[in-house]
Amino acid sequence: MVLKNGTYKIVTFGCQMNLADSGVLAAILNAHGYRAVETEQDAEVIILNTCSVRQKAEDRVFGRLGELLAIKRRNGVKIAVVGCMAQRMGDEILERAPYVDFVLGTDRLYELPGYLANGEPIPSIHTDFGYEHIDGIVPERDSPYSAFVTISRGCDNFCTYCIVPYVRGRERSYPVDRIVGQVRDFVADGVLEVTLLGQNVNSYRDGDSDFADLLKAVASQTDIRRIRFMTSHPKDLSDKLIEVLATEPKMMTHFHLPLQSGSDRILQKMGRGYTFAHYHDRVRTLREVVPDISITTDLIVGFPSETEEEFRMTLDAVREIRYDSSFMFRYSVREGTAAARLIDDVPEPEKIRRLTELITLQKTVSYEKNQEEVGLVREVLVDGVSRRDPSVVKGKTEGNKTLLFKAGPEYIGTIQKVNVITADSWTLHGEPVK
Ligand code: SAH
Ligand code: SF4
Ligand code: F3S
Repeated sequence: MVLKNGTYKIVTFGCQMNLADSGVLAAILNAHGYRAVETEQDAEVIILNTCSVRQKAEDRVFGRLGELLAIKRRNGVKIAVVGCMAQRMGDEILERAPYVDFVLGTDRLYELPGYLANGEPIPSIHTDFGYEHIDGIVPERDSPYSAFVTISRGCDNFCTYCIVPYVRGRERSYPVDRIVGQVRDFVADGVLEVTLLGQNVNSYRDGDSDFADLLKAVASQTDIRRIRFMTSHPKDLSDKLIEVLATEPKMMTHFHLPLQSGSDRILQKMGRGYTFAHYHDRVRTLREVVPDISITTDLIVGFPSETEEEFRMTLDAVREIRYDSSFMFRYSVREGTAAARLIDDVPEPEKIRRLTELITLQKTVSYEKNQEEVGLVREVLVDGVSRRDPSVVKGKTEGNKTLLFKAGPEYIGTIQKVNVITADSWTLHGEPVK
C-alpha cells in the first residue's frame, strides 16, 4: 500500500503538548504534499492524537474509533492512532480496533509520512522513544496569531497518580537557540503571542541556562509581543523566574500552578514534593512581586484514602488562594503508576459529589475575581469573532481571561486596549478604549 499526496484529518485529544505535536505533524504532512481537510469523511488518512491522562480520555478515543469503522468500511480510509495512548497500549488498541493501520508513539508520530509512503506492513506499531526530528518547519496552528512552542518533552517527576512520565519518557530540553529560532519563524509568519510548553518548565535546562534565562532570551532576541508558558511545578518555582515576570514587559501576567490537593498528607501520597504552606508562600511572593497576576490551578478529588476532612482542605485552599480559575478532576487509576497499587477507595458517587462541590465553589470565586476586573483597562490579543454574535470579537487578556467586545473583524490580529465593563464567572465584556 503506497499513499502519497493524499488528504488528511487530525483529531487531537488531551493537552496543549498534544496540540503542539499535532501542529508539527500537520506541517510535516503538508511538506510531503498532503492536504488537510475539514471532515473525516473527506480524508484519506485519519489521525487520532490521543491522551491517556484519565480513563475518560481513553474511553473517548475508543468511542471515536468505533465511529470511524463505518467510514473505514465505506472508503478504506487509513487510520493512525498516535501519541500517549499509542505509547501506552499499542497492542490493546489493535485488539479492540483491528482496523487501525498505524500505531505511533509520542516520539514516532512524525514518521507517519514515511510509513504511508513506504508500503509498510499494516498494521504496524512503533513506540520506541527518542526518534523525534523536527527541525526546519513552521508548525501549523489553530490561530494565526498565537502559537505553542515545545521547550521540553517528557517528565521525571513521577507524581504517583500520573501516566505522563511513562507515555512521554524522560525529560529533555531543547536548546535555547533552537527555541529562539522557532519563535522567530513564528513571528515572521504573523504570530504575536507564544506559549512555551513543558510538563515542568521550571526544570528546563540547556547548559548554564535555566527557564528564566530562556524567557529572557526569547523576550530580547525575538520580536514576539507576548509570552506565556505552562506548566510550572510548585516545588521548583524560583524567585529568579518571578523576577522575570515582574521585569519583562512581554511576559503575560498569568501563572498556572497546579496544587492538586490542599492536604499535606495527600500531597505527600501524590509525591508532589511540597506542602500547602510552601505552595501558599510561593503564591504570596508571586502576588507581592507581580500584584496583577492571575493564578490558575489543577485539582484532583478522591485520591485513594482522601477523607472528607482532607477534601475540605482543598476547598479551603481554593478559598484562601482565590484562584482565577481551575481545572478540576476526579482521580482516575492509571495502570502502572505507583498510586495504582493503592486501593481506589473513594466511591465514584462520592468523587462526583466532591467534584461538584469544588466546581461550585470555584465558580463563585471566579465570579468574584472577575468582578475585580471591572473598571480596569486590559490589553486583548483579538483572535476571532464571537461564535454567538458576529458583531462581537474576542480575545485573551494578559491574565488569560476571555474578553468580548463589540467591534468589527478589522480588529482581529491586533492587540487592543479594552475597558472592562461587566464580568461573569467565565468571561469579561468591555468596550475598546478610544
Ligand atoms: N505536567 C503538568 C500537567 C499534567 S496532566 C503538571 O504537572 O501540572 C494535567 C493534570 O491532570 C494534572 O495536573 C492533574 O491535575 C490531572 N491528572 C493527572 N493524572 C491524573 C489522574 N490519574 N487522575 C485524575 N487527574 C489526573
Ligand atoms: Fe504528571 Fe507530575 Fe509530571 Fe505533571 S509533574 S506530568 S502531574 S508526573
Ligand atoms: Fe498530554 Fe494526555 Fe499525553 S495530558 S501528555 S496528551 S497523557
